[in-house]
Amino acid sequence: MSGMKLPALLAVLGILAPAAAHAAEGNAAAGRVTFVRQCGLCHSPRAGEVLTAPSLAGVIGRKAGAAPGYRASSALKAWGKRWEAPLLDAYIASPATVVPGTKMSYSGLPDPTKRADIIAYLSTLR
Ligand code: HEC
Repeated sequence: MSGMKLPALLAVLGILAPAAAHAAEGNAAAGRVTFVRQCGLCHSPRAGEVLTAPSLAGVIGRKAGAAPGYRASSALKAWGKRWEAPLLDAYIASPATVVPGTKMSYSGLPDPTKRADIIAYLSTLR
């Protein structure tokens, strides 16, 4: 076995793939900073605290439009899916594309790293 170094060989075999997947998971500390800047005007990270929009505490795994104490748009309620990471990612990138008629008047966050960071932060909120 000459020429090929062990890490390269493992990568070719797919053995290093889990490490790569982990790297794409996002940084919750960075996500908190981005959340405050991009989302915090309308969304609180504290459970049950409604600003102009629902709290995002516990949003991951919850049904869309079902946050306690908030009257979601009929578009969001009718859409009715559960918020898992891939759907959240798409909604944050372009809310009105994913849920036409949503009343989240936010144009979207184009940077995929920042979206991954926000999702990592949201998953720390209870
Ligand atoms: C200008 C205010 C505003 C900003 C900024 C904003 N949102 Fe929203 N967001 C809303 C409103 C209003 C809704 C309710 C939408 C509806 O009922 O259709 C909402 C809904 C949501 C929902 C669905 C909640 C549920 O219970 O189903 C998620 C998730 C969400 N926003 C994430 C974010 C994230 C993450 C950011 C920052 C990147 C952000 N929003 C920025 C106003 C905002």
